[in-house]
Amino acid sequence: MNTRVLTGITTSGTPHLGNYAGAIRPAVHASTQPGVDAFFFLADYHALIKCDDPARVARSRLEIAATWLAVGLDPERVTFYRQSDIPEIPELSWLLTCVTAKGLMNRAHAYKASVDQNTAKGVDPDDGVTMGLFSYPILMAADIVMFNANKVPVGRDQIQHLEMARDIAQRFNHLYGRDYFTLPEVAIEEDVATLPGLDGRKMSKSYNNTIPLFEGGAKALRAAIMRIVTDSREPGEPKDAEGSHLYTIYRAFATQEQAAAFRKQLEEGLGWGEAKQALYDHLEGLLAPMRERYFDLMANPGRIEDVLQAGAAKARKLAVPMMRELREAVGLRNLNAQAPGKQAQAKKEKGKGARFVSFRDEDGGFRFRLLAADGEELLLSQRFADPKEAGALMRRLQSEAPKALLQATAQGVAAVLDGVAVATAPAGAQGDAQAQLAKASEALASMSQE
Ligand code: TRP
Repeated sequence: MNTRVLTGITTSGTPHLGNYAGAIRPAVHASTQPGVDAFFFLADYHALIKCDDPARVARSRLEIAATWLAVGLDPERVTFYRQSDIPEIPELSWLLTCVTAKGLMNRAHAYKASVDQNTAKGVDPDDGVTMGLFSYPILMAADIVMFNANKVPVGRDQIQHLEMARDIAQRFNHLYGRDYFTLPEVAIEEDVATLPGLDGRKMSKSYNNTIPLFEGGAKALRAAIMRIVTDSREPGEPKDAEGSHLYTIYRAFATQEQAAAFRKQLEEGLGWGEAKQALYDHLEGLLAPMRERYFDLMANPGRIEDVLQAGAAKARKLAVPMMRELREAVGLRNLNAQAPGKQAQAKKEKGKGARFVSFRDEDGGFRFRLLAADGEELLLSQRFADPKEAGALMRRLQSEAPKALLQATAQGVAAVLDGVAVATAPAGAQGDAQAQLAKASEALASMSQE
């Protein structure tokens, strides 16, 4: 089976060069690998948690979708959608909310950080904390387990959320008695570039030190690069390439040979001004074709909308049946299926269906028979001293693939578990072995559907 890789991008900002190198590029690359089914989505419900400016949210969804498509995401191959186009996600989020301990959410880093800041300020600990922020990890868990994702590539700040998603999924599985959800694993890419920003701290919108990816065009790219902080060494003086942000950024977009050549130039005294121009030329060469596609898409939002709608339809093909099953699991069921008449009828039908009957033989041993719907005896079990053992075998015969367990032998049909014939055709069974085999497997199959 393919590995499901899923990740979400909160739509509250404009993609910058750091997002591209650290998240977008590796994700798009991963989606092209064999054996991978990628699910990438715009986490626009999550955006509402941190941003109450509708224009910003709307703009960001467009910019982020256009960016991912422009850099080469193939929506035919990847399931690419908006969270808010999948109504099953908030629905699942509620089911998960009802099994999540409040104490677990109290420990979430994002929430705790707000509480700590409030405490330091001497205001109410929950000042400015919305239920959206508090329950953020539950919505994220719903995003992930809805599609039974195996691997979730995220930044280190999200590791705790993944642990919480596992906890919540496990709790649901346990409470409702079945592995409804796959437990997701966090995927932290060790060798992915974390880019320094203009001031050398991690490139981040919150530090206001970013280099734009596409917005503002070549001009904005060049202007930002010219503002990268360097040391005061003059042209002609050897530079410490390894220690410079400029080189770190260059290296993230270059082959080993290109990086080595640039490094040598710096060590030989290339001036910072020229080095910045070289970095700009290099990045512009890589980004210009993608930027052209980006602005083309931005000018045709209807095309993006169509792609996202198709992606939502693809995602809902999985989410709708999943949600149907989960509603059933928690007891939100169609009342018709529980009408008293129907239940009685179902019982009656059950009585008439294929069945096991257990009995004690004359020596006090425990045995069972498999009877066809018409009462014909199809199998007679061996003798067991312990009735529990007989019961366990009946359940296994019913639940395990019936075909594989049944064998036609010269003596007739036998049901084989772990290499032992636990039940065989009774003496004097009529008909040929193949016909008996078909009857017995039909009987078991009908029972396993109950
Ligand atoms: N919380 C993530 C972030 O801020 C975005 C996100 C939302 C996400 N749902 C997700 C990431 C599900 C991975 C899986 O980066």
